Amino acid sequence: MNDMNELKSTINALAVAGKGILAADESIGTISKRFAALHIPCTEETRRNYRELLLTTPDLEKAIAGVILFEETLGQKTSKGISFPELLKQNQIIPGIKVDKGLVSLPGTDEKSTQGLDGLAERLQAYKKQGARFAKWRAVFAITDKTPSRLAIQTNAEDLARYAAICQANGIVPIIEPEVLIDGTHTLEQCFNVSEAVLNCVFHKLYKHQVLLEYIILKPSMVTSGKDCTVQANHQAIAEATITMLKRTVPAAVPTINFLSGGQTPLEATQNLNAMHQVQPSLPWNLSFSFARALQEPCMAAWLGKGENVRIAQEIFLKQAKMNSFASLGKYV
Ligand code: 13P
Repeated sequence: MNDMNELKSTINALAVAGKGILAADESIGTISKRFAALHIPCTEETRRNYRELLLTTPDLEKAIAGVILFEETLGQKTSKGISFPELLKQNQIIPGIKVDKGLVSLPGTDEKSTQGLDGLAERLQAYKKQGARFAKWRAVFAITDKTPSRLAIQTNAEDLARYAAICQANGIVPIIEPEVLIDGTHTLEQCFNVSEAVLNCVFHKLYKHQVLLEYIILKPSMVTSGKDCTVQANHQAIAEATITMLKRTVPAAVPTINFLSGGQTPLEATQNLNAMHQVQPSLPWNLSFSFARALQEPCMAAWLGKGENVRIAQEIFLKQAKMNSFASLGKYV
């Protein structure tokens, strides 16, 4: 298969109406924090046990088309000795891999950029041999009176585009994740303006780097009020603002947009996604989810690191995945 056919078959398997992508790619630092909040010890084995719980959930493929894994998980096996990417493949779920190497400060600003471009092509080839068919790179933008700066927007957009071009050259579908952070006191309108500026710049850079829009997944944040804003926008306002912003910035050639949950509660994220389909039933792109916390939080809290809780935690996880599958069709009630 040449690279284009590879990209095509991967995107066709991921951009499916009624299905989303599970982000289970927390770095060791991030999963340590999530486990610590529930007093679950964080070791290579507890991380493996937890990922096994998620990935062996019966019927997961009915709601989930792909799973983003962390590098450690890509190389781990189930207790029956099947590698996690192989297990997913057997269940018709596409394995993906987080490839960025986290945030660093952007000199001259109080802002961040994302590292991981050096040696990326070689890493992608190795991940591909382990079974990964798509990748993820996250950039963040904080809203304050002074940020995001023009420099931060341009630099992060450029890096996202370079990453995406390298992925496609290696037959890997890139998830492009420009996250406008929910932290802060900003209004819905401020979030709208920042999101519009960021996505506008990202698509300009994707064009410059000749990224084929037909073979990307956009993973944006929803347009919401800041977490500490005194006036909180409702689902309808969030849905309308998000759809208007996306229609202004994302070309129709993009096959699928899969939101991150970004610190919304699981229920808020589901209801907001559902509301978008109700305000605009016909959209140029598939509009779905690629949540981490909004899919996993109730399940992790039910598991608590204990073998005897695995079955109930899997039931809760599947319920969460199915609720979001319904929301991605505007059918959550
Ligand atoms: P959340 O849904 O928890 O925001 O995570 C999505 C993600 O993949 C962050 O990179």
